[in-house]
Amino acid sequence: MIIAVDGPAASGKGTLAQGLARHYGLPHLDTGLLYRAVGLAVRDAADTPQFEARAIAAARALDTAHLTDLEALTSAEASVLASKVAVIGDVRQAMRQYQRDFARQPGGAVLDGRDIGTVICPDADVKLFIEADSKARMERRARQFEAKGLPVDRYALYHQIEERDARDRANPHGGFYKAADAHLLDTTRLDIEAALRAAVAIVDGVMAGKAASKGA
Ligand code: DC
Repeated sequence: MIIAVDGPAASGKGTLAQGLARHYGLPHLDTGLLYRAVGLAVRDAADTPQFEARAIAAARALDTAHLTDLEALTSAEASVLASKVAVIGDVRQAMRQYQRDFARQPGGAVLDGRDIGTVICPDADVKLFIEADSKARMERRARQFEAKGLPVDRYALYHQIEERDARDRANPHGGFYKAADAHLLDTTRLDIEAALRAAVAIVDGVMAGKAASKGA
């Protein structure tokens, strides 16, 4: 079973995808980490004319076995750099096959990102599109940073999320929209447990429907 989980920054899609993977015993890929790793690899070329070429080379050379420095990968700096390399078509192209192969491993997988249901796995068994309003997403990110003991400027964070949304939405290579057959889950008023219960209910419902239509 392939489950595609898409949604904007800090919508809770990563936590939900992890929870779904655990629930169904499937491997999980947070595809945002790929873009973050490429962004960090070219941080010293940011705002230079070499940025694009360096990012493409970094994406082609990316060693997916080394996405382990989660502290650096989940930093605010990595978020901004990731959204800048993610608008480069050849960067996306370079990482497409790896994501597709991950999804198609025996037994399936859960992948989360922006274009999983639209571009990477248009044939996924279940597609979820996770939403939450910008204020709720800002508050979640703020608490994640606070839990790490980092100082938080909520006003700046809110604007950073809005700016990143705008860049993601305007991405000409993205496919950053809800796939027509994706199920919308708004987590604005849900805690993690309630959101996961709702996601599991959607997945079970879709799979039961598929089994019934096969048997019919
Ligand atoms: O999901 P995230 O916040 O870790 O994503 C970081 C950036 O990477 C985000 O700005 C959009 C980009 N991204 C993407 O373009 N496609 C994906 N499948 C995943 C992330």
